[in-house]
Amino acid sequence: MKKAGKLGMSLLMATMLLVTSACGSGNGGTNTAGADNAGGTSAPAAASSEPAAAPADKKVTLGFAQVGAESGWRTANTNSIKESAAAAGYDLKFSDAQQKQENQIKAIRSYIQQKVDVIAFSPVVESGWDTVLKEAKDAGIPVILTDRAVDSSDTSLYETFIGSDFVEEGRRAGQWLVDKYKDSAEEINIVELQGTTGSAPAIDRKTGFEEVIKSNANLKVIASQTGDFTRAKGNEVMQSFLKANKKIDVLYAHNDDMALGAIQAIEAAGLKPGEDIIIISVDGVKDGFIAASEGKINFIVECNPLLGPQLMQAVQDVLDGKTIEKRIVTEEGVFTSEQAKAALPDRKY
Ligand code: AHR
Repeated sequence: MKKAGKLGMSLLMATMLLVTSACGSGNGGTNTAGADNAGGTSAPAAASSEPAAAPADKKVTLGFAQVGAESGWRTANTNSIKESAAAAGYDLKFSDAQQKQENQIKAIRSYIQQKVDVIAFSPVVESGWDTVLKEAKDAGIPVILTDRAVDSSDTSLYETFIGSDFVEEGRRAGQWLVDKYKDSAEEINIVELQGTTGSAPAIDRKTGFEEVIKSNANLKVIASQTGDFTRAKGNEVMQSFLKANKKIDVLYAHNDDMALGAIQAIEAAGLKPGEDIIIISVDGVKDGFIAASEGKINFIVECNPLLGPQLMQAVQDVLDGKTIEKRIVTEEGVFTSEQAKAALPDRKY
């Protein structure tokens, strides 16, 4: 320091000013949620009435641990997150866990090591997250859940959960069936293709559906098995349902992809999907809408995958130190075959 001449000192001061402004305003200079986090990308706002300088080159870093690429819904969800992060100017670190919890945990740990500003993820299954969530919390990195919930009793481990009400989706599917068969005296045999075992949508869509159909004793679930949210598994399991059961009246699939796989199995068995077997599914992706408009799916409960804009807003709010709702529920509708046909030309995903 002693050796620094006037010019050197000026340069040093300028550099320090730059560093201070970059550190103090990494996230708009108002980050309280992650203010003293290990990420070191933000610091408490200076005790000054001067507004913090705008960050010149420090981008917000968001680590996102995705479930996988198991369905059309997931592809649309991934695209929405990538596009929204780019539009927000965030540096997105994205990983695909291939439907494996251990891969997601690894990805989250690597985001903690990389000291990202915020971690977001869509948990493959509901249980087993407390340890890694605590690691993120100890590192001062806020976590946002999207799409699927965790069953942690300590809700301080995450900032918010943005996504659908899966129980309500199951109820909507069940209610359509109850209404359809309200005047029928015969027994209606239902087979169910569940989503990934242990995942929030599989658990909740089953719960909501059962809750509603029990009002009609004629509605009976005669077989229920996981199809892992994929077309291939939906096809395989439907084939075994058809082999084992003489009379199947209804298929309830927890997502469109499994319903689409099952439709192939039903057609291969010489039956007409949508007529010989009534089909209800969840999601409302384009391929599901096409099948519905052809009369092969009778009723679709929508699950909206376009969570990117809401997630980026939540990231910004958390970094700005704003209080955000612990639960942000996505709005969605339901579609009969006719409604799906009418909506198909405008369907974006
Ligand atoms: O978590 C949402 C579910 O996951 C969607 O319904 C399904 O298609 C996806 O794979």
